[in-house]
Amino acid sequence: MTSRTLAVVSAGLSQPSSTRLLADQLAAATRDELAGRGEAVDTRLVDLREHAHDVVNHLLTGFPSESLRAVLDTVTGADGLIAVTPIFNASYNGLFKSFFDLVEADALTDRPVLIAATGGTARHSLALEHAVRPLFTYLHAVVLPTSVFAAPEDWASGTADGALRARIERAGAELAEQMHRRPLSTGPADPFALTTDFADLLGRREP
Ligand SMILES: Cc1cc2nc3c(=O)[nH]c(=O)nc-3n(C[C@H](O)[C@H](O)[C@H](O)COP(=O)(O)O)c2cc1C
Repeated sequence: MTSRTLAVVSAGLSQPSSTRLLADQLAAATRDELAGRGEAVDTRLVDLREHAHDVVNHLLTGFPSESLRAVLDTVTGADGLIAVTPIFNASYNGLFKSFFDLVEADALTDRPVLIAATGGTARHSLALEHAVRPLFTYLHAVVLPTSVFAAPEDWASGTADGALRARIERAGAELAEQMHRRPLSTGPADPFALTTDFADLLGRREP
């Protein structure tokens, strides 16, 4: 049985957090789908509120703390990514954007990403399409067609049911399929890797 890594990023600020709850349910749906395809999953949850100070320090200094470096490597090295934000002022919240501002522009190239959000009103569900989707498209990720938005009424029974449950399952199936059809991730890219042949480099300097 092969094993995939699944990074799950939640930018919820409350405790308990509905964003985190949605992230957990999306991860479970993806895990179940991959299990059905004979693949085990190593799920790595990243609760961004625990790294908020380190995120700001990295933005200010240009250097990550050891623990934030590990988190960034987890996110960029996983086979698949679930990214969930609460909607603030009709867009992703500042913590979510600040964290992904620290991800190199090509570090998520061809990586399947499931995007999701929670909000106080269903009227802002399209923030996923006009804000979150373009962010990951810019990062060259493969953003899945199904995005998942949960409004307060979707949690009326204390858990996801009805239309939200169906959407979670559909999105989980799409992510599992995209992860399954790709070769296993080789981990985060080495920022110091020599990508140009040394002889070519020397050759180019000749007059
Ligand atoms: C500063 C702030 C701005 C918000 N702006 C919006 C908004 O524009 N649209 C919306 O639907 N919900 C808005 N909300 C509500 C949150 O998106 C909602 O409560 C979210 O589910 C909280 O997630 P959490 O439980 O994980 O913290 C806002 C909340 C805060 C604190």
